[in-house]
Amino acid sequence: MSPFDHFISSFDEGIKKQDLQKLTLSNYKGPESELKNVYIKLVLIKRELMLSFVYRYKTKDVTKNFNSSDALATILNLTEFKGFRNISLQRTNEILHFQRNKKGDWMERRENVKEETFVNLLHDKQKERKITDLSKPYLQSLNLTDASGKVYKSAQDKWKQINHYIEILSSSLAELPKDKKLNIVDMGAGKGYLTFALYDYLKSSLQQDVLVNGVEFREDLVEFCNQVAKDSAFDDLHFVQGTIENYKPEEKVDVLIALHACDTATDDAIYKGLQDESALIVVAPCCHKQVRRELEKFKAKNELDFMLKYGIFLERHAEMLTDSIRALVLEYYGYETRVMQFISDQHTPKNVMIVGLKKEVNPNKQTQIREKLKSIQEYFGIGYHHLVRLCGLDR
Ligand SMILES: C[S@@+](CC[C@H](N)C(=O)[O-])C[C@H]1O[C@@H](n2cnc3c(N)ncnc32)[C@H](O)[C@@H]1O
Repeated sequence: MSPFDHFISSFDEGIKKQDLQKLTLSNYKGPESELKNVYIKLVLIKRELMLSFVYRYKTKDVTKNFNSSDALATILNLTEFKGFRNISLQRTNEILHFQRNKKGDWMERRENVKEETFVNLLHDKQKERKITDLSKPYLQSLNLTDASGKVYKSAQDKWKQINHYIEILSSSLAELPKDKKLNIVDMGAGKGYLTFALYDYLKSSLQQDVLVNGVEFREDLVEFCNQVAKDSAFDDLHFVQGTIENYKPEEKVDVLIALHACDTATDDAIYKGLQDESALIVVAPCCHKQVRRELEKFKAKNELDFMLKYGIFLERHAEMLTDSIRALVLEYYGYETRVMQFISDQHTPKNVMIVGLKKEVNPNKQTQIREKLKSIQEYFGIGYHHLVRLCGLDR
């Protein structure tokens, strides 16, 4: 495949997988003396996936939005005839640099990306406006805003987290059917900050027909949240007292969410989603005690054992192993899986989010994953991993 054909296929794939972070056209040699660069990114405009082009001139920016086929035609035009000689295409885990030499041939260079980030699909004008009506009563009941709709200073971090969470989810939710009522379950909903915000966003901003259930162990929180939902006339939002492991949904769960559910409660939540073949599973794991105990118990002898005498590395090791095995299990069941930083570690160290989008199961891949799971568990001395056991993948 020629470098330029590779650019086109990677560009198409980046749109399809929605992991195209940024595309930059530079080194302009064309006739427009003031034109410097063109910056291109994926955006959702009225729920349609588009590409936003910012043409940077010496003294102004001009923005134009295109659908994917017009976008490619425009890029071809800008590079072939209008003289941009460099293209850099950034996706979640790589940057491809293409450079056209004087003879007109394209050369290609690949760069790894150090830290994966999610693609923010919201249009600049929409940023920070996920929850548009700050006067809504639930925001006051949750102590996020005052009576005039101003976010309290002490709630600024929480507010950022809520908005960021909706940004991340909205790109995955955009892939789900819009014409049917979505059954969403939020496991370990706590005081319901994220549950209320998600419901409000889906109902008010996207006019999506949804049923949202928050599952929470603490009775006082469940009572409080149900009262707030009632006061807000959020008729399709309910909170149920009970444990994640014993929760029995009345209908098939389309979207399974579990944010900061402790230790193996995250595994129980993922397992519920897998049993229902939920279209989307989103978890932000919390503590990782179960696998940590296994590591401490078996003390496997391997090339990495010298690290594990330090508590902090043992902790991180347990976290990475627990969550990467969770991601593998999701892949086993045909989920396209992404692992990303959820919130900045300034706000909380519990900031990894695993997002699984249901696709087809691939039996060959399943065989490989089973072998991989077995060898990882043996190598690291993990006698059991809760999710692997629930799924019966260790038999
Ligand atoms: C750290 S809070 C997170 C709340 C919310 N999801 C968020 O991210 O803001 C975890 C909540 O999950 C609940 N929880 C933990 N394990 C649970 C389980 N096994 N079943 C039901 N609720 C659980 C706790 O009571 C707590 O309210």
